[in-house]
Amino acid sequence: MENTIEKIKQEALKEIENINSLKTLDEVKNKYLSRNSELNNLKKSLKDLPNDKKPVIGSLLNKVSAELNSLIEQKFSVFYEKELNEKLLKEKIDITKDASYIPLGNVHPLTKTVNEIVEIFNLLGFSLIESELSPEVEVEKFNFDLLNFPIEHPAKDMQDTFYCKSAKNVVLRSQTSNAQVRQMISSKPPIKIISPGRVYRNESVSARKNNLFHQIEGLYVDKNVTMAQLKGVLNEFIRLYFGSSRPTRYRSSFFPFTEPSVEIDVQCIMCKGKGCPVCSNTGWLEILGAGMVDPNVLEAVDIDPNVYSGFAFGMGVERLTMLKYAIDDIRLFFNNDERFLKQF
Ligand code: DAH
Repeated sequence: MENTIEKIKQEALKEIENINSLKTLDEVKNKYLSRNSELNNLKKSLKDLPNDKKPVIGSLLNKVSAELNSLIEQKFSVFYEKELNEKLLKEKIDITKDASYIPLGNVHPLTKTVNEIVEIFNLLGFSLIESELSPEVEVEKFNFDLLNFPIEHPAKDMQDTFYCKSAKNVVLRSQTSNAQVRQMISSKPPIKIISPGRVYRNESVSARKNNLFHQIEGLYVDKNVTMAQLKGVLNEFIRLYFGSSRPTRYRSSFFPFTEPSVEIDVQCIMCKGKGCPVCSNTGWLEILGAGMVDPNVLEAVDIDPNVYSGFAFGMGVERLTMLKYAIDDIRLFFNNDERFLKQF
């Protein structure tokens, strides 16, 4: 028995000597020190030895196991450190190397304007409409009829509005005002929402007009809503959006869904009111339409106009962005020219 143990020991010493990685170390450790190792099997068979042999062989087996274990542990610290260092060296970051260029995008100027305007109206107590109440593909009923457009209104003409060829009465909405109607049908007053989105008009493209553009609609309906409040809200919006020093004027106007109706102009940024081609020499540029919600519109969505009143407004996002940054061609927003987009 002693000879067998000695033979195993010598064999193990040779193999430990030859260990050259953590992987081979694991193999050797398994072979000589695991449960199924020869040494362990000998330990299990101690019970069959004569009593006087048991303590001698038992302690010899323990001594050899301990010796092999300690040699393997020593090897472990050597190879663990070696392999760790190799790994760290491989992962070393060369901070003197040139950084590779990763082009960064930025927010589109129209998105930037919409975000700013939404934030301002949030401050003024308006919340963002649920998106399903503001669809771009709309039925005539919500784009026109419930907004008090007479059947023969010129805006309903195919020359002005994109109609769907395959589905009757379906249009690409020509205004975000469809959201007003949908909101008033889906909830009772008080209502205080804004609704940004795309709108479409069938017109020829020029520096001032595109057939796709963006609007932000606002609606406030409650008891005792007044024109004075409308003025207060829009003046505050203009002050916050442009900064305090933009001269503004209100002009009376007409929309089928508001009575009375107004349009608001701000002084032309290019000529400071002196008159130039951008403002057609008037010194003023229109930024929005607004008014008190027509009682017919309230009635059509089952809100009693004797109890409730409201104001509404709709503003052009492109126009507001052009005025803020002195951009003189609406098409720049849609060409995706990096030289333009980078400036915002
Ligand atoms: N929908 C109008 C347009 O596209 C703008 C507008 C005017 C919206 C008056 C309104 C409003 O809500 O009250 O020209």
